[in-house]
Amino acid sequence: QTVALIGGAVGKDGYRHYMEKELHEHPVVIGQTLQRIIDPVTRQITLPDLPFALEEIPRAVITACGSAFYAGLVGRYWLEAEARLPVDIDVASEMRYRNPPLSEGGLGLLISQSGETADTLAALRGLRAAKQHILSVLNVETSTMARESDVTLGMVAGPEISVASTKAFTAQLSVLAALTIAIGQARGAIGPARQQHLIACLLDLPSRAAEVFGQDEAIRAMAQVIAEARDVLYLGRGICFPVALEGALKLKEISYIHAEAYAAGEMKHGPISLIDRTVPIVAIAPSTILFDKTLSNLQEAKARGGRILVFTDAKGAARLRDLAEIVVVVPDVDAFVTPILYTIPVQILAYEVALLKGTDVDQPRNLAKSVTVE
Ligand code: G6P
Repeated sequence: QTVALIGGAVGKDGYRHYMEKELHEHPVVIGQTLQRIIDPVTRQITLPDLPFALEEIPRAVITACGSAFYAGLVGRYWLEAEARLPVDIDVASEMRYRNPPLSEGGLGLLISQSGETADTLAALRGLRAAKQHILSVLNVETSTMARESDVTLGMVAGPEISVASTKAFTAQLSVLAALTIAIGQARGAIGPARQQHLIACLLDLPSRAAEVFGQDEAIRAMAQVIAEARDVLYLGRGICFPVALEGALKLKEISYIHAEAYAAGEMKHGPISLIDRTVPIVAIAPSTILFDKTLSNLQEAKARGGRILVFTDAKGAARLRDLAEIVVVVPDVDAFVTPILYTIPVQILAYEVALLKGTDVDQPRNLAKSVTVE
């Protein structure tokens, strides 16, 4: 299966669209990507030889475009909270012109499926000129960015044909999670027990990811509600806020429905004025430390007539029984890996809505797979 995915001819293998096929590849891609970076025997992170010492990096600047940028946002939460590394992040089209003051020897962390995106490449060159070490997380390891980086961490996603990125996103997250563990260890922020716990959570992910596909019916029920809407609000908090951003982007890209993602705590500062029965609320809400906060945001939305659709685990589902119209129950996992797992049903939801809308799923209007011009 692994060999076929990496080296085989790229067909739809009986799926209706490349996007559907690529969604089903999530579990395999996460597994393969982790296999390359985690030694199966020692269960240690094995990075390629680095021309710099991880423990000496004072801070990181992350930059990317589109979905890759949202992967970077998750990376920031991980690197700050787990590895205790200060992080700055911006979309590459901004970063390339921001000219931030950077001290020599920082880490420039680029994320790109194609390795050819013009803005990301320009940002890479700017960071290099500012004497940052350049580490890129790439799917295409023969790309321009690979050639211009000090070191490339490859995701093992195989070719991604659908314009809307799916499996490359979870592969990027898998690499960033492993990198976080390596940097956290090097900085002394992650001890041996925490390291083994986090690695065990990652290695368990392919099986948990496969289980998500058992929730098709609930996802399709959500899609029915969303397909009738003109505007949709996605909410998430903390490490799952970027998953809300990714969900809203995917919905916009392939179903042409307007969607916005908000950090759930910001809802009261604006978007709450939009909420009524016609604006469904999609919440990414695993029952982690921030669950109660999101719950109270959802209660506020419900009180204003909002239809509440939630991705959560069994424990969260039990607490949402009276509040949510539809719940997609996601396997229970450690908070650390929730962004990887929750991305899968959230992307499937966008796909199901696009099917109902009858759009050109693999080739959405006005979009390109790789944007090599500014
Ligand atoms: C385009 C694609 C997106 C992708 C973005 C960045 O906009 O449609 O799916 O996330 O480019 O591409 P990259 O190859 O740099 O990850």
